[in-house]
Amino acid sequence: MSTASCWNPAARGSSPAARRPSRLARWLATIPVVILAVAAAAALAPAATAATAAKGRAGTPAAPAVPQRFAGKVALVTGGSRGIGRAISETLARGGATVVVNYSKSAAAAQEAVAAIEAQGGKAIAIQADISKVEEVRRLYAEAQQKLGRIDIVVNNAGILPPAVPVEKESEATWDAVFGLLKGTYFSMQEAARRLPDGGRIINLSSSTTRGWSPGYSIYAGSKSAIEQFTRSLSRELGPRGITVNSVIPGLTDTDMVADYPPAVREAVAKNTTLGRLGKPQDIADVVAFLASDEARWITGQQVVANGGSNL
Ligand SMILES: NC(=O)c1ccc[n+]([C@@H]2O[C@H](COP(=O)([O-])OP(=O)(O)OC[C@H]3O[C@@H](n4cnc5c(N)ncnc54)[C@H](OP(=O)(O)O)[C@@H]3O)[C@@H](O)[C@H]2O)c1
Repeated sequence: MSTASCWNPAARGSSPAARRPSRLARWLATIPVVILAVAAAAALAPAATAATAAKGRAGTPAAPAVPQRFAGKVALVTGGSRGIGRAISETLARGGATVVVNYSKSAAAAQEAVAAIEAQGGKAIAIQADISKVEEVRRLYAEAQQKLGRIDIVVNNAGILPPAVPVEKESEATWDAVFGLLKGTYFSMQEAARRLPDGGRIINLSSSTTRGWSPGYSIYAGSKSAIEQFTRSLSRELGPRGITVNSVIPGLTDTDMVADYPPAVREAVAKNTTLGRLGKPQDIADVVAFLASDEARWITGQQVVANGGSNL
C-alpha cells in the first residue's frame, strides 16, 4: 500500500463498518465548513455596516467600506465640521474611532456632523476651538483628553483659502490670518506629540498649490509648504515612538472652500485630471483613513498626493 492510500479513508478496509466514517471523523469534517461560514460572516459584516451607514446619508455617494480598524481609538479632527474634515470625521468614526469634531464658527455644522456619526452607530463629540489661537488649541486637547481619556490620531485639517491676489496687492491681514492658523496648527502638532501614545498618527492637510500651481495664492501656498516641512521634521523626531507623521495633498476638491470658483475653472481642472472629474471629500478622507491605520505603519514623513492624477 502506498503512503498516499494509507491516508485515504475510502481505500481503508472493505466492510461497510470500516467504510463508514467514525463520529470523530464526521465531526472533524464539519470544521472547514464552520471556518468558511465564520470567515464569510466576518467578511460581509463591515460591508453590511457600511451599506447601512451609506443608506442613512441620503444624497451623498455611498462611501467605500472601512473595517473597524480604529476600534478603541480616539481621533481629533481640526475643522471636522465641514467639507473634507467632515468626511474624515465620518470615515474614522465608521472605522470605530470616537471622533472629536473640532470647529471654530460653525456650531450647527459640527452638531450635524456628530448627529450623522451617531446615526451611523458611531461616537463623536464636538469641541469649539479657534485653531489660530494657541491657548484654544491647548484647551481643545485638554478637554478632549479629559472627556475621552486618550487621543491616538490627530488630523490637522482646519484651513482657510483667501481670494487669489497678486503679490503687489497682498495684505498684512491675509498674512496674519493664514499664518496665524499655521501657528496654531504647529502647536496642535506639539500637543499631539506630547499626548499621543506610541504608534499614534498625525496627518496634516497640505495643498496642490505647493507643487508650483499658485499664482495669486503665494501666502496660502507658503503656509502649506511649511506644513509639509513640519511633517518631515516631526516624522524624524517622533519616529522612535512609532508615531507616523504624513501630509495629504488634495487636488481641487468640491467643498465650500472652492464653491465660488467659476464653472469654467472647475471644468478645466476636472478635465486636467486623469480621472476626468473634481475630487470629492470622500476621496481625501479614504486616504487619510489609510494613513491613520495600522496598515500604513511603514509610511512616515511623506506627502501623499490625492488629485486624480492631475499632474501627470
Ligand atoms: N477643497 C479643496 O480644493 C482643497 C484642496 C487642497 C487642500 N485643501 C485643504 O483641505 C482642508 C479642508 O478644506 P475644505 O475644502 O474642507 O475647507 P472648508 O470646506 O472651507 O472647511 C474648512 C474647515 O476648517 C475649519 N476651520 C477654518 N478655520 C478654522 C479655525 N481657525 N479653527 C478651527 N477650524 C477652522 C472650518 O470650521 P468653521 O466653519 O467652524 O470655521 C471648516 O470645518 C484645508 O486645510 C484646505 O486648505 C482643500
